[in-house]
Amino acid sequence: MRVLSTGTRGVVTPAGSAKIAGMPSKVYIVDDDLSFAKLLAVNLTQAGSFRTEVFECAEDLYQRCVEQPPDAVITDLLMPNIGGIEVTQDLRKIDPLLPVFVLTAHADMETAIEALKAGANEYLTKPVNLDELNTLLRRALAERPMREEAATLQQTRKEKFSAGAILGKHAKIKEVREFVGRVAAIPYPTVLLLGESGTGKNLVARAIHYSSSRAARRFVEINCTALPSHLLEAELFGYQKGAFTDARESKRGLIEVANGGTLFLDEIGDIPAELQAKLLNFLESRRFRRVGGTDEMEVELSIITATNQDLESRVKRGVFRADLYYRISVVVHLLPALRTVRDDIPILADHFRAVFNQEFGKDVGSINDAARARLIAWDWPGNARELRNVIERAMIFADKPVLEEADLPPLGLASGAAVTPSCADQFAIAKGLSLAEAEREYIRLTLSQCDSVQQASEVLGISRKNLWEKRKKYGLLNEV
Ligand SMILES: Nc1ncnc2c1ncn2[C@@H]1O[C@H](COP(=O)(O)OP(=O)(O)O)[C@@H](O)[C@H]1O
Ligand SMILES: [Mg+2]
Repeated sequence: MRVLSTGTRGVVTPAGSAKIAGMPSKVYIVDDDLSFAKLLAVNLTQAGSFRTEVFECAEDLYQRCVEQPPDAVITDLLMPNIGGIEVTQDLRKIDPLLPVFVLTAHADMETAIEALKAGANEYLTKPVNLDELNTLLRRALAERPMREEAATLQQTRKEKFSAGAILGKHAKIKEVREFVGRVAAIPYPTVLLLGESGTGKNLVARAIHYSSSRAARRFVEINCTALPSHLLEAELFGYQKGAFTDARESKRGLIEVANGGTLFLDEIGDIPAELQAKLLNFLESRRFRRVGGTDEMEVELSIITATNQDLESRVKRGVFRADLYYRISVVVHLLPALRTVRDDIPILADHFRAVFNQEFGKDVGSINDAARARLIAWDWPGNARELRNVIERAMIFADKPVLEEADLPPLGLASGAAVTPSCADQFAIAKGLSLAEAEREYIRLTLSQCDSVQQASEVLGISRKNLWEKRKKYGLLNEV
């Protein structure tokens, strides 16, 4: 039974916003007990801020909604043909923000929950407390503009951050978009995103969240390298007042904040060793305690992790727990380096040109062939982020309608590329290592992350000869 056709959408939806200031709000009441409905109507009308109309069945109500959309609806729960839950659902489909109140003579928990799930604002029992109903109605009507604003914002976010924001025509990028779509359809997925720095891991994490049914819930992100271990723990799990000297008040952790939504743990490869067991424990049980707390809390949320590190080798070296690695890698996707999807370079370059046109208030219409060729030829060790930086710099100084080769900054070190491998920031020294052992490990790691011995010697700040001697001393001549 769907009397309200989609054709009514345009009529019903603008009801709230089209309301004339100062006019009493239109409240429709539907109840098979018509005398009750009339009594309620009289009472509400006397309060002054409402105009009311009563209907004996949902069909009549729907008919009237098509002619004249209401500002709020009060519906009885049990009616012969279409009940209050269905009425709520039907109205919600057409106007998601319409205030709907369900009344019933027999309160029971289950139908109350059902009504709220269907989208009712409130569930009230007869006899109705008129003051209460009045207050609730007024509040719901007053909140509507704010809700509309929030809904618009939500929609903008959805468009800005969904899979469509991942640009590129290359098959590998199409796969990324498809991956986002598939994963977003899973209720609370656990996802690991791999890829070099700048390949779009944050972008993809957001896209998964904003393409999912959790889009209206929070997307919370934290970089695991940003804080020392104890602060990161407090940030993630929250703490109870008095847990440590500075804990004057209790604080919710990001896990609690993200409940129902997504928690994005960036640079998971660098999560401190002390926290790995705690995180694993949480991931397995979805339960946790605040630091210094006794109560266990349970949450439901999607966990997305990302790293540019080779986690398997970290597991082999014993710096990343194998069980944690298995737990987070339920669903894994490797994002392609920009140099492996070269045809997409002009697409991204044009996108960033448009972004900075807007940001800098410029009107650069295109990138000329020579500049384009140079961008396509470069290897982009810093991937899309580096390309973005290059276009940003070019756009700052651009004063012609076409971006030319001369406008481009020198590519390489100056473009903010990740020429220096990230190992230097990410090197964790295990306790108990001697200085020589630490040096050996650091050199080995650097060699493993550099493309050449020459590059490794630059990163280490020593001559190639010196590096060769050290490699010999530490038995690392077979590395690289
Ligand atoms: N396929 C893509 N389409 C559009 N923008 C992209 C794409 N890949 C990366 N970017 C942009 O490049 C920059 C770096 O991406 P980011 O997600 O921060 O990379 P990562 O987290 O892997 O280091 C961001 O501005 C991001 O929006
Ligand atoms: Mg990132």
